[in-house]
Amino acid sequence: MNETAPTPPSRELLPRHIGIIMDGNGRWAAKRGLPRNMGHQEGAKTFGKIIRYARTLGIGAVTAYAFSTENWKRPKDEVDALMSLLRRYLGELEQHKDENARLCILGDRSPLSEELRRAIERAEEGSRNNTGITVNIALNYGGRDEIVHGARKLAEACVRGELRPEEIDEGHFSAALYTAGQPDPDVIIRPSGEMRLSNFMLWQSAYAELVFMHVLWPDFTPEHLNWALWEYTGRNRRFGGV
Ligand code: FPP
Repeated sequence: MNETAPTPPSRELLPRHIGIIMDGNGRWAAKRGLPRNMGHQEGAKTFGKIIRYARTLGIGAVTAYAFSTENWKRPKDEVDALMSLLRRYLGELEQHKDENARLCILGDRSPLSEELRRAIERAEEGSRNNTGITVNIALNYGGRDEIVHGARKLAEACVRGELRPEEIDEGHFSAALYTAGQPDPDVIIRPSGEMRLSNFMLWQSAYAELVFMHVLWPDFTPEHLNWALWEYTGRNRRFGGV
């Protein structure tokens, strides 16, 4: 199946925010008789390439699912390899200097190593004023966990007397999530043939177009992104209207 297109749709039709579930790294490695971690390494390279391309297209934000709250169940050496890939990526942010990227990590940082938490703070702090593209990395992220955290924050504000329960609306809820202040994703792309959200951006995906593809994430190229964008622009978004 050809899931590539040589050029993207015109700029005014492009989404503001793209979500990506970077799936298929393990299968990519298995097909080549390589250890799974090699698939993640290749996937991390693909991520860098896609961010650079998204920036050239003028896309405002990309959110990528790098490690879910469920991924701790994987073998320890795979978890360790993913954490060290992420730490390395955060330490090499100058690779996105040309993109003028602002980096945000979405997820519960409390169980992460101190070293990784420090790397996150440094990368976020150092890129805070960048305006080229927002790069959100979902790390120890789960959509349900995010909603529970948000509900807890709002409950605490009520207990402190800063908010009344009957005042809570969708705006308060959005502002209590990890993506506070960011637009919802217009499109969520999942390569590798799986057709589910797997706990990714459950609140924010309410009106997102879902694009499922067969390509495995390490093989994903700018031409695959073009194809997904054409798929997105071909949809008729009604937001509940007619
Ligand atoms: C799912 O594929 C992928 C992950 C759980 C990890 C994604 C992480 C990266 C691409 C690398 C780190 C990211 C950055 C931003 C540097 P899978 O392993 O479940 O694939 P499979 O379904 O084929 O086994």
